[in-house]
Amino acid sequence: MSRVVYVNGEYVHEEDAKISVFDRGFLFADGVYEVAAVIGGKLVDNEAHLARLERSLTELKMRCPVPFTEIPVIQRELVEVNDIDEGMVYLQVSRGVADRDFNFPKKEQPSLVMFTQDRPVSSSPKAVRGIRVSSQPDIRWKRRDIKTVQLLAQSLAKEAALSAGADDAWMVEDGFVTEGSSNNAFIITADGTLVTRQLGNDILHGITRRAVLEIAAEEGLTVEERPFTVVEAQGAAEAFSTSASALVMPVISIDNKTISQGVPGPITRKLRERYIEIAQETAV
Ligand code: PDD
Repeated sequence: MSRVVYVNGEYVHEEDAKISVFDRGFLFADGVYEVAAVIGGKLVDNEAHLARLERSLTELKMRCPVPFTEIPVIQRELVEVNDIDEGMVYLQVSRGVADRDFNFPKKEQPSLVMFTQDRPVSSSPKAVRGIRVSSQPDIRWKRRDIKTVQLLAQSLAKEAALSAGADDAWMVEDGFVTEGSSNNAFIITADGTLVTRQLGNDILHGITRRAVLEIAAEEGLTVEERPFTVVEAQGAAEAFSTSASALVMPVISIDNKTISQGVPGPITRKLRERYIEIAQETAV
């Protein structure tokens, strides 16, 4: 069945959804995006996603073509017309259509596109088994804190991981893991300390990351925000990644080295369970 998607003020079937070849999102990857999870037909942590969208737009001096308060209205309309119980709402703002020129257009009319994806989120089979990751060089630009649509480096890293027999890539720069290809990376040390890289321009400030750190604090876990190496991760008690699309995803091996017993660890499972509980309670 064809989805209904939103393109610049209109709700249309996906086969009729069109963007100009001159759109700067297409020509320059001059656009930003957000992905919010849907659980029970409701949006998870959407306010935080929209706050990050606003920050990404500000960093790129781009404006939003609709008032910010309008965005959740459109998101909810799409969830409803497409009958999404679990899945995602994707939204993208680009700098819009202008003749090809590196400089920003004088008169900017940004584009806004949104669509839904229907897929299991809270009951993913991968989360039961855990995933294998492959380390890949992080060849991205230096402003990874801005959620731009220039995702070719991540796409290449995921493809390389797949070729190496893994499910996903963790990216490495100067000997340390930055983050996953589309998620933040965490380990739990032998003494039960939760470790994840500190915020900065070299990683995306994950909304799920933040929520998981809050849960960890509630659970009384010691948290260290610092870089870690692949070797430290391989020797960790547990590992996992976080994102709006996969929530808390257990990692069971890195570069073919099994982590601990090769099954999702107890702290990871607890964090995932608690995350889902809170998401179900607070989604709107
Ligand atoms: N990706 N790091 C990167 C590079 C990401 O692309 C993402 C999200 C995250 C996790 O952020 P959050 O918890 O806010 O989803 C970290 C989305 C899901 C995607 O591109 O599909």
